[in-house]
This record gives sequence, structure tokens and C-alpha cells, in this order.
Amino acid sequence: MSTPNAVTAVAGTNIALVKYWGKRDVALNLPATGSLSLTLDRLGTRTTVAFDDGDRDRLVLDGAPASDAATTRVSAFLDRVRARAEIARRALVTSENTVPTASGLASSASGFAALALAATRAAGLAVSPPELSALARVGSGSAARSIFGGFVEMARGARADGSDAVARPMPEGDGWEVRLVVAITASGPKAIGSTAAMTHTMRTSPFYDAWLAAVPGDLAAARDAIAARHLPSLGAVAERSALRMHAAALASDPPIIYWNAATLAAIDCVHTLRARGTSVFFTIDAGPHVKALCRAADADAIAAALRAVPGVTETLIAAPGPGARVVEER
Ligand code: PMV
Repeated sequence: MSTPNAVTAVAGTNIALVKYWGKRDVALNLPATGSLSLTLDRLGTRTTVAFDDGDRDRLVLDGAPASDAATTRVSAFLDRVRARAEIARRALVTSENTVPTASGLASSASGFAALALAATRAAGLAVSPPELSALARVGSGSAARSIFGGFVEMARGARADGSDAVARPMPEGDGWEVRLVVAITASGPKAIGSTAAMTHTMRTSPFYDAWLAAVPGDLAAARDAIAARHLPSLGAVAERSALRMHAAALASDPPIIYWNAATLAAIDCVHTLRARGTSVFFTIDAGPHVKALCRAADADAIAAALRAVPGVTETLIAAPGPGARVVEER
């Protein structure tokens, strides 16, 4: 290829309801367990990849040149695409997170899903959705799930090359009007990145094996709950999966504590609302924010209740969203 070819793709982030925490291979981001998530409409990434005649890859993130560390990570990812396409050209990658600024929600899941799609297309590759999911996974484990929309299950896989550690959409959940209300409880980067935290948990937490043993049962319960569209069952799985993941991390030595005071206050708010009859359940990722799973009709009232919790600075309501897609080709 000699002509510049720019492709823009968008992807929504996803929130795991059955968490992934631990890798069976760090280099390929092969997960130690399966996981199950919901891809969101509002929070995501828009990425343009243009291969050109530059002498190195360049990354512009939210309008500014990215750090060397971020650029190196993207460049290593592009190397895989170049190897597969048998091209040598470098690229200009321009990426914007459609996440409210300072929310602390900028996501590697949507980022690497959008990058995988834009880069493969710009390199002229025809890649099936499972192959794209496996490729996105190498950038970030959770990115494998953002290739698909709605409810998504990620397989642990068994192969050493990761070709079966891919996500699949769960169409049985399509059209279910659920929402995730995100309660922002802090700004700034998280205390410890997920890869380092997972490795540390695996090495030092006496609860790690118990965490691993619990996941298959949680996955089965979540599948059944989605097929039956039974929110209390799905919510119960989501809460226990998040709490078990955090329990394993908390028990590491030294401990990994992602929560702050507002995290606990938001959990208490969700439980109080539930005791009063609202079907609402929380989940928490590798950070202090609380995400509340609920029916669409209850989302506004839940957001208002969470917004009134001391330490909660902002709330967002996200709906199920589509998978990664190309929006422009030049
Ligand atoms: O994909 P990573 O490396 O950002 O790890 C994701 C870890 C959690 O968000 C806490 C859980 C999950 O399954 O998304």
C-alpha cells in the first residue's frame, strides 16, 4: 500500500458483572478465568489509525501527544497488526475518550477495541470478530469484550496462543432495558494498575485460589439470569463477584485497597434503596467508583440518590451499547 489510508472506529467501554482478575499468561493477557460484561453506549473511545511514511508511530490522546509509555504500548500492539498484514509502515493514531473529563473512567477496554478495529482495517486485513476479540485482548484483557455489544461472555480459553480466549455476544440479553448508574467518587489515576494488581494478588493473596474457584459458578448463574432476564439474580451475582475480587485483592500483602470513604457510602446507598424496594445492585472495578445496575425506569431516581452521597462528585447513566464499529474510512 502506498496511499495513506485512515480508518476511524468507535467502541464503548464495558463493565464486568462477573469479574476477570488474574492472568494465566501476562504477555498475551490470557485470563485465569472467564468473565461476563455489559458494553455501554455513553462511555467509549473514538480512534483513527492512518498508516503513513513517518519513521515511528505517533499517538495523540485527547488532543495532546501521549506519554512515551502509552505510545510504546500502542506501537507494540501495532507491531502485531503489521506482522499479520506484512507491512512496515508506521502510523499516526488519534484517540479520544468520550468520557466526561476528570471522571477517572478513561478506559483501556474501549481504547484497545477501537484501536484493534481501526488498525486492522487500515492495514487492509479482513479479520473475523473472534479474531478481532483475541487481538484486542492482547492490548487489554477487558478490551476483548468491547468488540461486541450488549451482554458479552469472555472465555478463559485453554490454548497457549490465546486463539480461544475470546469474547462472544449474548443475544439472549438484547433489548433488556437495564442501566448502569456510575457514581464517581474521586478524580485522578487509580492507585495501582490492573495488571500489576492482578499479579500481586496471584502471588500474595491467600484468597486468590478461592476467588478462582468461585468464578465458574458465578458465570453459570449470570448466564441463567440473563436468559431469564431476572435482575435480582444477575445483581446478586454482580455484587458477590465484585466483592470476592476485591476481597482477594484486599488480602494481598501489602494490601490493595481501591476503595475510599465515598465508595462505602455509595454501597450503603445502594443497599438502602434495595431495602426500600428498588431493584439495584452495585459493582466496583479496579478503582473507587461505584456502578449501580438497575432497570431503566429506576435509573434517574438512583442517580439522584447516589449524587446526594457525600464524596460522590458526579453520576452518569449508561445504557447497553453496540460493539466496536468503523465510522469513517478515507
Ligand atoms: O483489562 P484490564 O487489564 O483493565 O482489567 C480489568 C479488570 C477489571 O475491570 C477489574 C475486571 C474486568 O473484568 O473488567
